Parts: sequence; structure tokens; C-alpha cells
Amino acid sequence: MYQDKITVTYEGKPAYQIIFSKDFSLLSDTLAELGLEGRRFMIISDSIVGPLYIYDCLQLIKPMAKEVKSITFDAGEENKNLDTVKLVYKSLIDNRFDRKDIIIALGGGVVGDLAGYAAATYMRGIEFIQIPTTLLAMADSSIGGKTGVDFMAYKNMVGAFHQPKLVYMNLSTLNTLPERQFNAGMAEIIKHGLIRDKALYEWLSSNLDAVRLLDYEILKKMIYISTNIKKNLVESDPREQGERALLNFGHTIGHAVEKLMGFELLHGECVAVGMAAAAYISSKRGYISRAELDGILDLIKSYGLPVQVGGLKPDDIYNVTLVDKKMQTDKIKFILLQDIGNAVIDTGVTREEMMEAIEFILRQDND
Ligand code: GLY
Repeated sequence: MYQDKITVTYEGKPAYQIIFSKDFSLLSDTLAELGLEGRRFMIISDSIVGPLYIYDCLQLIKPMAKEVKSITFDAGEENKNLDTVKLVYKSLIDNRFDRKDIIIALGGGVVGDLAGYAAATYMRGIEFIQIPTTLLAMADSSIGGKTGVDFMAYKNMVGAFHQPKLVYMNLSTLNTLPERQFNAGMAEIIKHGLIRDKALYEWLSSNLDAVRLLDYEILKKMIYISTNIKKNLVESDPREQGERALLNFGHTIGHAVEKLMGFELLHGECVAVGMAAAAYISSKRGYISRAELDGILDLIKSYGLPVQVGGLKPDDIYNVTLVDKKMQTDKIKFILLQDIGNAVIDTGVTREEMMEAIEFILRQDND
């Protein structure tokens, strides 16, 4: 059955729990169980999520804390940068936060990555808690300890691995999430099915209506299964030296599209387009059939996600992909589908294969 929690290990030892809940009511007890009573907490959120949930969290944490403060910054990927981190440091210093105090990231992927980075670096590292409120953050970014900010238009160029002390998911927060944001999170869940779990992939196709109606038990089951896939990958390879890179399926071309579109498209939407490109190469290689490729495109589209973009030049996408990825390794590590539910790392994808895939995802603007 689907439990209410999953324990994630780090270097073989239990490191933190992921809690699945209908509300925030377990938050205070969970923090107390972690021995965090009598500490100072800084809730970091953004201008959209803050007004919705900071007050509730503050009220719940106050009785067990020495002090609870909060700071919000303007929502949006364009604010995931060192200037915002500076504001966070300033607030921590103004409020005399020290090594024993705790940061709480309350929000989506931008908040989690940025607050996590502030926690990783403030006074050489303080503890932090993830309270993801978007599907993307629940499915992906709150788990596994990747933190960071964008720098000079390079996504996540400055960052650190820093494991959270707790990930607390209140699935009811998905009820206030705009549909477009929900769909963007579905991209990462579809990704988990494609790379590791054909049964999840098929389940997503047959449970489309229930998922979109935000049925609690259905969402819990979906997020639980998806989280377990991510947990297994980050446990076996916490610092992405090997198979954790499978989680980058759809991200190679996806990141280039994201950068060139000037953040007009959401991260999950770009991943969806990138997955279409990677699946296309997989079908050209004969790993998956044309019918399977079409099935993947249909599933992505059925969750309101794009498989094509307009207004970009193929060479631009190729060049940005190359520059971005070569900054990280000598060769482009492309993630392909050997089969649905079985992804592999491939460092031999040629320019021709990439260009053909890029043409495939480029829409003629007069379509
Ligand atoms: N979002 C990919 C990872 O956590 O490795």
C-alpha cells in the first residue's frame, strides 16, 4: 500500500523523511520529532505562495519554536539569482540566525532551490526543510538535495548539494495551483515513468481524468510512486556521477529551449518538448517503435503539455545545448529510451541526430 512517508537514505544512512499529508497539521509534531524544538525558523517563500500559506505555517510552528520569521521574494525564475540570495542572507543576519537555526523553503522549485542554496552556504551550511507546494517541486526538485540559482542566463550554474532535514508535502496545496503549473509538474512524473517504470507510464494514461480532477488518493498514489523512483536514483548516486543523470531525460534540449524562450515557457513545459526530442532520437535508433513514440507524444499532450515550440532556430538550440552541456562534461550526455521504462545514458548522439530531433520539435509558426 501507499504509506504516508518515505525515508530517503544518504550514504547508506537514513537522512530524511518525505511526508505525504492532506494538510499542515503534522508539521509541528514532525519538527519536534526531529529535535528542532526551541530553534529559530526562517520561512522563505515567494509573492504567490507566501500569502496563501505562510500564516498557517507560522501559527503551527510558533508554539514549538524560539522564533519564526518569514521573507518573501517576487515569484518567478527570473528572481532565482544571487541578488535574491543576498536579500535572504541579509534577513538571516538582521535576525541573528546562527548555525543551529533552520530555513524552511515554502513554495515551488524556484523557492526550494534558492532557499536550499542559502541554507547550504549561510555560515557554511545550516539545516533546511522543504515544503513543496507545486507538483514540480513535489515530484522532483524538493528531493535529492540539489540546490542552486541561475547565473548569467545559465540555469542552476551556481549551487551545492545540501540534503534537506525533512520534505513535507501537503497535497492540498495542489488545489490552489494554476492548471498550467500542475501540468508542468506532470512532465517530471511522466519522465519518471518513461525512464524507470512502464507501469507508471501506462497508469498515467489510464488515470488521466482522475489525476486532473485532483482526487486526493489518486494524487497520493501517483506522487508516492514517482517519489520512490526519484528516491532510488538519488540514493544510489547522490552526487550525479552515474545513473542519477537519467533524471535529466528531456533536459538536454529542454534547457536550451528554456533559455532561448527567455523563461516564457515553464521548466516542465520545456522538459516536455525535450522529452519529445529525446524520444524521437530513441525511435530513429530503433529502440522504441514509431507507435511507441506516438503514444509518448499523445500522453504528454493529454496532460496539456507541448511537444513542439515555435519561433526558434535549429542552430541556436543546438549551439546552446552544446555550450550548456560541455560546461559540465566533455561530451554531451544524452538520455535515451532503450525501451519505455528503461532509459540509458548515451554519449554518442551525433550532431545529425540532434539536428533531426530539433527539427522535429520546431513548429512552423504558420501551422
Ligand atoms: N532534477 C534532477 C535531479 O534531481 O537530479
